[in-house]
Amino acid sequence: MVRQVFIGPMIHTDENGELIIKESIAIFIEDGKIIDVTENPMTDQQKIHDFHADKVNNLSHGEFMIPGFIDCHTHAVQFPNLGLGYDKCLLDWLETYTFPLEKKYTDTKFAEQVFEAVVKRTIEAGSTTACYFASLYTEASAILAEKVAELGQRAFIGKINMNAPRNDGYYESTEKSIKDTMAFLESVEQIGNPLVRPIITPRFALSCNMELMQELAKIAKAKDLHIQSHVSENEAEIKAVKEIFKEQSSYTAVYEAAGLLTSKTVLAHGVHLEDSELAMLEKRGTAIIHCPSSNTYLRSGLCDVRRLKAKNIKVGLGTDVSGGSSYSMLDEMRSVLHVSNCLSITRHDHVPFNYKDVFHMATLGGAKALSIEDKVGNLMPGKEFDALIIDLNAKSSLLDNFKKYTLEERLQRFIYSGDDRNIVSVYVRGRKVK
Ligand code: GUN
Ligand code: ZN
Repeated sequence: MVRQVFIGPMIHTDENGELIIKESIAIFIEDGKIIDVTENPMTDQQKIHDFHADKVNNLSHGEFMIPGFIDCHTHAVQFPNLGLGYDKCLLDWLETYTFPLEKKYTDTKFAEQVFEAVVKRTIEAGSTTACYFASLYTEASAILAEKVAELGQRAFIGKINMNAPRNDGYYESTEKSIKDTMAFLESVEQIGNPLVRPIITPRFALSCNMELMQELAKIAKAKDLHIQSHVSENEAEIKAVKEIFKEQSSYTAVYEAAGLLTSKTVLAHGVHLEDSELAMLEKRGTAIIHCPSSNTYLRSGLCDVRRLKAKNIKVGLGTDVSGGSSYSMLDEMRSVLHVSNCLSITRHDHVPFNYKDVFHMATLGGAKALSIEDKVGNLMPGKEFDALIIDLNAKSSLLDNFKKYTLEERLQRFIYSGDDRNIVSVYVRGRKVK
């Protein structure tokens, strides 16, 4: 058994999204799990001594601990396109830039190179958990799962399913899609790492027919798996979905008819959802993953997250690379603030979010969206130690003079203008991965 203690300042949020700020605590960890948290460790030296830790980490130079970030939606295969293609909106963007890149992942060497960089860079940016769309191809998808396991990130990984015929051949038959999904599930099982889990991934209603979606829903149900897809991102997309699935009343109703809406389903975007769709999502406990960087660069729309929350819909955050321009959750939090500020400028009934709200969305909010709040999201006893050590005075960082500021002000400055350099260490289930 490996025992560690972390001593120092800590900030996280509670169930209601309220900040909890502790100037000095000791977190006791056994095999990656937080077994106890005590305040005033200076008066509790005996307890620390009696714990017989293999390592005591004392944050005594102004650093502080926060929970790791949870990126609830990103596309590992699209990282080579970061920053490319914002002259087009969603459907043209997919055809012109995205599908041609994704077809290259039959080359397993290319997949290995890209995925190594993806996992390293997202960890460096503080994403202790990532929910990935991997590849249409099983072999490439399995390579991503292996990389994640090797580098120590917590992740959901989905082999993408697409059976809608296309001229360029970038799709698969229903039979192959199901067979390859089963093979992918088996390969993740073989890795045998509890941090790396498969997720059923019908790309979106325009790339899957009802039969495939229903079969995938059956697999998810039989194996109690998570499901991810996209919904209601762009108006042209919604129109096309309604033309294909004429018998369904809405985009969300298509997924409902397929059996894809569960409490372990996460749907990216949800920018233009109708009230009836919100009711369906609420009933099923399905989460929406807000991806504001992508929504603004692809000009999909401004998602009103307050409206989703008012209907009790769980909301996580996603970088949605490469619809989004950055793999950093700090950047994504700022995009949430920009979108919310824009809504509040144009609509006086919209109360803008602040740094506390986005900090919650990026941590415990994301954990709830993915239904993993029993394991991660904050640093409460019983959870696993997925944490970031933040140092505003880190080398080459411009955020110095931190001593003048309260702990809450330091969090605020980190969220509004910090970067990777301030994330000096990253831990996933107690393992130091940065
Ligand atoms: N809808 C279907 N596929 C995609 C994708 O790769 N990115 C985004 N943003 N939306 C999608
Ligand atoms: Zn996406």
